[in-house]
Amino acid sequence: MSTLILGIESSCDETSAAIVADGNRVLSNVINSQIDLHKIYGGVVPEIASRKHIENISYVVDEALKQAQINFNDLSAIAVTYGPGLVGALLVGVSYAKALAYALDKPLIPIHHIRGHITANAIANPDIRPPFICLVASGGHSHIVRIDDYTHFKVLARTRDDAAGEAFDKIARVLGLGYPGGPKIDNLAKEGTKDAINFPRVQMAEGSLDFSFSGVKTAVINYLHKAEQAHQTINKADVAASFQDAVCEALCTHTLEAARRENLSTITLAGGVACNSRLREMMDGLCKNNSLRLCYPPPILCTDNGAMIAAAGYFSFLNKDFAGLDLNAVPNLPL
Ligand code: KG4
Ligand code: ZN
Repeated sequence: MSTLILGIESSCDETSAAIVADGNRVLSNVINSQIDLHKIYGGVVPEIASRKHIENISYVVDEALKQAQINFNDLSAIAVTYGPGLVGALLVGVSYAKALAYALDKPLIPIHHIRGHITANAIANPDIRPPFICLVASGGHSHIVRIDDYTHFKVLARTRDDAAGEAFDKIARVLGLGYPGGPKIDNLAKEGTKDAINFPRVQMAEGSLDFSFSGVKTAVINYLHKAEQAHQTINKADVAASFQDAVCEALCTHTLEAARRENLSTITLAGGVACNSRLREMMDGLCKNNSLRLCYPPPILCTDNGAMIAAAGYFSFLNKDFAGLDLNAVPNLPL
């Protein structure tokens, strides 16, 4: 008999519920995105996000069960993101999952959001086996992680300032492209030249693999200000392509170096920025040249979704890593 996990995700601006069988078969993955609601404000408004999660949560859970053609009693456990994220948003998912676990008398499984992103790789490529390296790049995180099994990680590098997705979003805003910025820059960059402007690539001292994106972000903003003051026309596509290349180069070279140091031959990608077409292309080329295997989930499993939480929940279920009904949302939960 299959282990059926309901995964609930509400850490930011997506309300999502999914049913995953045995950690990798997605029976349903219902995602209600609030992007249209937040984009007029240029970013996520926490209070609006919480209210919308409350309106949506019952619907997405019911729909996930319906699409999977199962009912509540068929579930093996309920997995939920309990951090990191917006506290009000997280609380909606956590409270709902707790109530469900209590009413159904089923185990409650607490999931770290980033562990969910990483485990999307178990769905996309069930044949890859840890240990491997994962580059996690999202709106709130940029980490290089060593995965020894799907419940144990070692953080090898992190960002010292902005997350990669945050830098994409900020530069899109100054270019007037709107929110969320990553996909907009990705598209516009296809019409530009990546070597048009030489934005800086930051190297940390003492062989650290940590990232820093504030330098490249400031360089882009300064470039735009100078051009404006000199009344020069700006080629936005060239700016987008050159900025994107600088960020992708840092992400790729540090990740490859981490694989070399750890003596691992598989690299995976996770998080919203893993949708980026230039990142995938650059990483693909580098991995081929270095005889490394590269895996990444399809875009729908890279951005926030319930299936990744259910998949992570499966591995916790095997370990009996359950939470009590005193589980709380932890907005700054460390990895
Ligand atoms: O993982 P995610 O959905 O949410 C967080 O956990 O943060 O990631 C969202 C981030 C946003 O910053 C968004 O701009 C970025 O992922 N993103 C992209 C692309 N698609 C989404 N960044 C670059 N290129 C993309 N194609
Ligand atoms: Zn995320």
